[in-house]
Amino acid sequence: MRALIDRLYTERTLSKEDFCSLLSRCTPEDSEYLFKLARGVSGKYFGNRIYVRGLIEFTNYCRNDCYYCGIRRGNRSAERYRLTKEEILSCCESGYGLGFRTFVLQGGEDPFFTDEDIVELVRTIKKSYPDCAVTLSIGEKSEEAYRKFFQAGADRYLLRHETANAQHYGRLHPPGQNLQNRMECLWTLKEIGYQVGTGFMVGSPFQTVENLAEDLLFIRQLEPQMVGIGPYIPHHDTPFADQPAGSMELTLLLIGILRLMLPNALIPATTALGTIHPNGREKGILAGANVVMPNLSPVKVRKKYELYDNKICTGEEAAECRFCLQSRMESIGYRIVVDRGDFRPVKKFENTVRSFYDV
Ligand code: 5AD
Ligand code: FES
Repeated sequence: MRALIDRLYTERTLSKEDFCSLLSRCTPEDSEYLFKLARGVSGKYFGNRIYVRGLIEFTNYCRNDCYYCGIRRGNRSAERYRLTKEEILSCCESGYGLGFRTFVLQGGEDPFFTDEDIVELVRTIKKSYPDCAVTLSIGEKSEEAYRKFFQAGADRYLLRHETANAQHYGRLHPPGQNLQNRMECLWTLKEIGYQVGTGFMVGSPFQTVENLAEDLLFIRQLEPQMVGIGPYIPHHDTPFADQPAGSMELTLLLIGILRLMLPNALIPATTALGTIHPNGREKGILAGANVVMPNLSPVKVRKKYELYDNKICTGEEAAECRFCLQSRMESIGYRIVVDRGDFRPVKKFENTVRSFYDV
């Protein structure tokens, strides 16, 4: 196993078969070895710096019906909400005061917000906070829409591919939703010039180790600037309510692998990871993650953006989460920085001695 890990470290990828062996046969000691290498890599690019993103969950209306998600259209018990433009701007205002320099506008695919509304929103935020990055996470849109958002000033886009296997994708989503369109969106976003984030759930229903290897190989091809992964966690009002949650250990292993594959990528220790284990996010950082995404949404709506059961931080104010995370990061020797936290391309030859002076 060590030889395989060393090869991943130097070559940054493995064959599908080798990824499968790594994922299925890694002992806890092997994982520790991998995490140490992964920490070394993130330390080289980021030191002990952790980037923060302020997450604003501005609508939980969604036209999609993903079988795993608590805010799927078919969930009649979900209490729906939309934030007004003023409410969103007020989240940014308090976020800015707390040191956030990236705002992530995340929502279900809600047709109530037209492309023009999003353009206006992005423009206003960028005008009020020219030193901040705006990230959109609002699902599958037309190429034209993606271009307009980018021209309005959006810097980054998050769209998890969820699973890179079309059959598996078909078991997680109803017939109208397909993997091909999702992947096309990702390639389009990259081409337009966004910093792109993708990702998947670990332990989603029917997922095999092979599927995970396929996810890794897809990510190798796409070369996203950001990768967000977290364990699948059941939501009681979905068709997958009785499916078991994904494991923390496997999620951590995948974070470590992703760090070795994409040395300078932005990899969050996600809220889902913090939900399945009280120290999940700290463990995520120690496995190679370098970003945390505390919630900036008004407390009155937080509980309603319930993608899965028992989601953490739904009762806390923005400032509480910010400082909670700060002390959590400090407890493991890291610190949160006031910074946009952009992706920085690596110079050529960065694996040689020269990089020691360059980085
Ligand atoms: N458990 C874990 N993650 C989930 N997501 C949606 N539903 C769940 C769930 N039940 C993730 C999806 C989506 C992101 C916003 O949240 O990967 O892309
Ligand atoms: Fe929200 Fe700790 S990060 S309470």
